[in-house]
Amino acid sequence: AAIHFDSNGLQNFVADNELDEIKDQVRFAHQTLVNKTGAGADFTDWFHWASSQDQASLAPIHQAADAIRKNSKVLVVIGIGGSYLGSRMAIDFLKSPWHNELVQGDEVKVYFAGNAMSPMALDELDRVIGDQDFSVNVISKSGTTTEPAVAFRFFKQRLVAKYGEEGAKERIVATTDAKKGALKNEATAEGYQTLVIPDGIGGRFSVLSAVGLLPMAVAGINIENVLAGAAEAEKTYSSDNVHENPVLAYAAYRRILYDKGYTTEILANWEPSLQYLSEWWKQLMGESEGKNQKGIYPSSANYSTDLHSLGQYIQEGRRDLFETVVRIDHSKHDLPIPKTGDNEDGLLYLEGKSLEEVNKTAATGVVLAHVDGGVPNLAVHLDRQDEAGLGELIYFFELAVGVSGYLFNINPFNQPGVEAYKTAMFALLDKPGYEEQSKVYHDRLK
Ligand code: PA5
Repeated sequence: AAIHFDSNGLQNFVADNELDEIKDQVRFAHQTLVNKTGAGADFTDWFHWASSQDQASLAPIHQAADAIRKNSKVLVVIGIGGSYLGSRMAIDFLKSPWHNELVQGDEVKVYFAGNAMSPMALDELDRVIGDQDFSVNVISKSGTTTEPAVAFRFFKQRLVAKYGEEGAKERIVATTDAKKGALKNEATAEGYQTLVIPDGIGGRFSVLSAVGLLPMAVAGINIENVLAGAAEAEKTYSSDNVHENPVLAYAAYRRILYDKGYTTEILANWEPSLQYLSEWWKQLMGESEGKNQKGIYPSSANYSTDLHSLGQYIQEGRRDLFETVVRIDHSKHDLPIPKTGDNEDGLLYLEGKSLEEVNKTAATGVVLAHVDGGVPNLAVHLDRQDEAGLGELIYFFELAVGVSGYLFNINPFNQPGVEAYKTAMFALLDKPGYEEQSKVYHDRLK
């Protein structure tokens, strides 16, 4: 396994016997997931997904990626929530947050749209693309989400203006449901190429389906290796014993901490390229667990920058926080601290050390300081920041939240609360079908 899970930072907070005391509940939650006997079991196909993929199932993704790489300098990925966070995480993690600035030769830049309503954001992206050749991958499982649908209208118009009606169609790939939804209907009517989001996989669990894999492949990521990492993880993390399976230990400790009043989890990292890992994780955790007035609130911190902003609160604020640090054991690049031989800047003591060593030492120091300040600490060590490692990390957290959801006695695979804002927004925008609510909501604003 590329992951090493470390719970030493819990010593002052959780007694040795506590893991044992919760182990039967965790085993039951795990079995509920594995045997598909729990709520939302129809949405657990991510469990065996990576291990069931092969050359034939990936062929349409490669074909679409090759076509885009041949005729485009830019891919605009339109989607929101689970329809964009996974590929954004993967490109940052495996290529770079500066991927678009660093592209070489025939590599394709990947920009994201449709994850906000902001006119400013759309206009700016429009100007960034300028006269570069581009294609669009519009992604929506339901096919009816407003943000991506609006952005798709803009970029469709732009494609038609640049390439004509037929030319535009050849530059659109729609990733959506196999049968239903407005996007599917439009794709069929217009003849866009489509990739399918499997029925049994919800948005936030869809990163290893065509949703995440097409943008990854376009960006030059080896998607087979990512899937192999997740497939391997399925075997590595199959035990139902908390003492043998680190994923179950993670789920168990989260629950133990929650019961003691640590109700906010901070996913922390020490690499800017992991910022979107946290964004993806926050959706996965928050949308899966936050139900029935229960669940751990998922938040994130990017170190060391956030030690100069959130750090004060984490060290001394309200004591309901615990921290899970994702640490990369072998950095992709390292740099020596430049040697000058003088101490004008007070850094002579660091000369000869590598920046990776300093980064790691800072991370170790922060754990000690936060534990001293009353923040329980967990660590997920990843050996290397590579494709297989990301696949394993994805599976680690997906499995953890499935088990954790059942430990909370909620359905981890639905998201009924997401509808409330939509109802209010549609009512205020006078969407047909919302006439009654429109009256109520408009009256409330009077
Ligand atoms: O996890 C989920 O199901 C949601 O957060 C969706 O990913 C998000 O709302 C986007 O939905 P869709 O892909 O249907 O446009």
